[in-house]
Amino acid sequence: MKITSKQLRKIWLDFYKERGHVDIGGVSLVGDGSTGVMFNVAGMQPLMPYLLGKKHPMGKRLCNVQGCVRTIDIDSVGDPTHCTFFEMLGSWSLGDYFKEERTKWSFELLNKVFGFPADRLAVTVFAGNENVPRDNETAMFREKSGIKKENIYFLPKEDNWWELERGPCGPDSEMFYITDKEPCGKDCNPSCDCGRFVEVGNDVFMQYEKVDENKYIPLKQKNVDTGWGLERLLVFLNSLPDVYHTDLYVDVISLMEKTLGVKYGQDEKVTRAMRIVADHTRTAVMLIGDVNGIVPSNVGAGYILRRLIRRAVRFARDINLDLGTIVAVAKIFIEKVYNDSYPLLLEKEDHIVKELQIEMEKFNKALEEGRKEFEKVLNGIEKHKQFAAQKGEVVENIISGKAVFRLFDTFGFPFEITKELAQERGYAVDEEGFKKAFEEHQEKSRSAAAGQFKGGLVDDSYETAKLHTATHLILAGLKKMFGEQVVQKGSNITPERLRFDFNLDHKMTPEEIKTLEDFVNDAVKREIPVTCEEMTLDEARKSGAHGIFDSKYGDKVRVYIIGDVDSQICGGPHAKNTKDLHHVKIVKEESSSSGIRRIKAILD
Ligand code: ALA
Repeated sequence: MKITSKQLRKIWLDFYKERGHVDIGGVSLVGDGSTGVMFNVAGMQPLMPYLLGKKHPMGKRLCNVQGCVRTIDIDSVGDPTHCTFFEMLGSWSLGDYFKEERTKWSFELLNKVFGFPADRLAVTVFAGNENVPRDNETAMFREKSGIKKENIYFLPKEDNWWELERGPCGPDSEMFYITDKEPCGKDCNPSCDCGRFVEVGNDVFMQYEKVDENKYIPLKQKNVDTGWGLERLLVFLNSLPDVYHTDLYVDVISLMEKTLGVKYGQDEKVTRAMRIVADHTRTAVMLIGDVNGIVPSNVGAGYILRRLIRRAVRFARDINLDLGTIVAVAKIFIEKVYNDSYPLLLEKEDHIVKELQIEMEKFNKALEEGRKEFEKVLNGIEKHKQFAAQKGEVVENIISGKAVFRLFDTFGFPFEITKELAQERGYAVDEEGFKKAFEEHQEKSRSAAAGQFKGGLVDDSYETAKLHTATHLILAGLKKMFGEQVVQKGSNITPERLRFDFNLDHKMTPEEIKTLEDFVNDAVKREIPVTCEEMTLDEARKSGAHGIFDSKYGDKVRVYIIGDVDSQICGGPHAKNTKDLHHVKIVKEESSSSGIRRIKAILD
């Protein structure tokens, strides 16, 4: 069967619509923070309240195609199967039908619609544990539907249970395609990674709510949550060797082949790099161009995005693929591959390309500066070694986790690069120490961010919070235009307007006011999330934040970060995202006192 991604989405939705399901469409890839995960990782995630019992406005039988981002396996991307973005074909019963219909339709799809012979299909079923019994019922219905008894495997919770950190969950039953590979042993089964069994989809029977690490309570309604991977299915249906041969990727791979003059599959290193560039660029495009789009930063989801782009650049550099080709790859995804299924990408094309370019340039700069800093770290260790040798002590060639983290956090130098360079020079890196420092940093930013939004701000306060963010953007613009010596000399904000005083030796010309206004509104248009981190004054200074480094702030200070535009010591509160400012208009520029100018601005 030859089939395109477009056709496959339609077949899926039509099949379920014919069986009484309503297509509810997909939602944003970026989590709203309520589920404890940064990205939408599964089709069921936005449906959690309905799986728990809330009435869904579209009914009890739903289906859709939902984009998902899973970055947990980011380091495995580059092999033939792992992707950080994928589309999940989903269908749900919210307290309506259960195991019998579910297993019957899954088989019908696999066997009748997609043409997989029954003896090529295997399934797994939950083997039971002290809390939940063995799922004999699903096994019985699977057999009744047409799956061979010998291809039904009972597996324990680690293989056959679906749950996120909290919320609806339950035993699942996965479906596999049996490849031509010989069994790896007499116990070969779908849980081993020998490659004989490849997962096609998953039917979850959600009957529990996870309320705590070890606490599960039964749900009033029994749900079915089904998710199949579009990319994988495309591979099997078209008898392709991997996902990079599907219509989602062929054009970008062929562009890279032409640019490099090397065929995909010809050279292992080049092939791996091509896959990484293709995968990471696709996910970056999706995240920046999302309805709740994000931009690269050093915290949370923005950090993952930064890592994706920088990893793509790193592997592109390795094979001498220029950055212009990464932009061209992004454009193919936007204009050709997803123009129908993700039309928003086209609307946001300029924004996506611009953010990609900004981040790639930043990374190039970071690489240069980080390399210098890396040399300083090595020099330090060498000196230490000499000093220790005089005392008869031996110092090992290890770069401490803290030093690696500093290179990463302050200079944007990726861990992997530090590790590679260290290896070349006969040094090891303290990976555990780095992870620890990194986790502490993440934890700090999480709690600071939670603090930022605590108390969900009343309207007037949010108006002033937005104007407050506008003052940060104005100061960032002034510094850019007139130099770092420009500082805040006073600020007064009401819900209607901001008033901002700063030092400058002349009256601003109309052109200068326009340039400043454009700078601010460009940041507004870029829809940059405003994040907050708590750190010591010293860390704040090193991070490049500006503001008043004064002991009156105490030891720990809050730094508000507006992406790459501004980073300032401040008590807040601020807007959550620059897009909330809508548009900033400077209505007045006047003298406040000698050498001090005053700007008044409003949001319109
Ligand atoms: N929620 C299930 C999964 O993602 C269907 O595998």
